[in-house]
Amino acid sequence: MVQFTLPKNSRITEGKTWPKPDGGRLKEFRVYRWNPDDADNPRIDTYHVDLDTCGPMVLDGLIKIKNEQDATLTFRRSCREGICGSCAMNIGGANTLACTKAMEDFAGAVTIHPLPHQPVVKDLVSDLSRFYAQYDSIEPWLHTVSPEPAIEWRQSRPDREKLNGYYECILCACCSTSCPSYWWNPDRFLGPAALLMAYRWLNDSRDEAKGERLDKLEDPFRLYRCHTILNCTQVCPKGLNPAKAIAEIKKLMVERRFL
Ligand code: SF4
Ligand code: SF4
Ligand code: FES
Repeated sequence: MVQFTLPKNSRITEGKTWPKPDGGRLKEFRVYRWNPDDADNPRIDTYHVDLDTCGPMVLDGLIKIKNEQDATLTFRRSCREGICGSCAMNIGGANTLACTKAMEDFAGAVTIHPLPHQPVVKDLVSDLSRFYAQYDSIEPWLHTVSPEPAIEWRQSRPDREKLNGYYECILCACCSTSCPSYWWNPDRFLGPAALLMAYRWLNDSRDEAKGERLDKLEDPFRLYRCHTILNCTQVCPKGLNPAKAIAEIKKLMVERRFL
């Protein structure tokens, strides 16, 4: 029978409120905490950050909390400029990058959870193993059968431009983890990020495996679980449009039936 009540040990409880630092302009942070090494339920801890001694982004606030208040707070980050994709989390109810989201965008407290519907490793760190395996499954590299050219596989400028809007994906997983179809079928639907990258290779004039690539996607779940809900396109922090890429793949599927 379907269980509509969450098991006791998964309910999020109110956690600790950490002492306020000195400073006139304090920003409240409410942050999801969970540690696999104890038996405690997940909790929300409350911190305050002095805006006058902190950078402007949510990631700046988290780093300041970790450095000055609570060294156990765990999150991923690397480039701090929207390039590596590692600081993706759910901030104020929407998936985005902590390093490009300004604290001042929030009138009240900044609430932060890990990316939704993924196993949690610790605190704000999600386990993205399946997400990466799905990316790997689309074989994101050039497939060719022609003899290798002496210097390089050349591409005209207009053909190169056809990759714009797709190659910029940083694999942050904001889109896939905001997609309801992906939540319900994470093991069978490839999700918007992997499909956007699949289209990037289908659309590459140098690639010679279009038919094989389409064969692998022709499946009621892998591609067709997308119901055009558009959450993916709404949240992409790089301004990409995975829903459009998915529609383009579906178009290719129809076109090849009439070739
Ligand atoms: S458009 Fe498709 S992939 Fe994007 S959120 Fe909706 S169902 Fe998911
Ligand atoms: S399409 Fe956008 S949201 Fe999705 S993984 Fe790529 S950069 Fe992130
Ligand atoms: S730290 Fe690299 S994208 Fe945010």
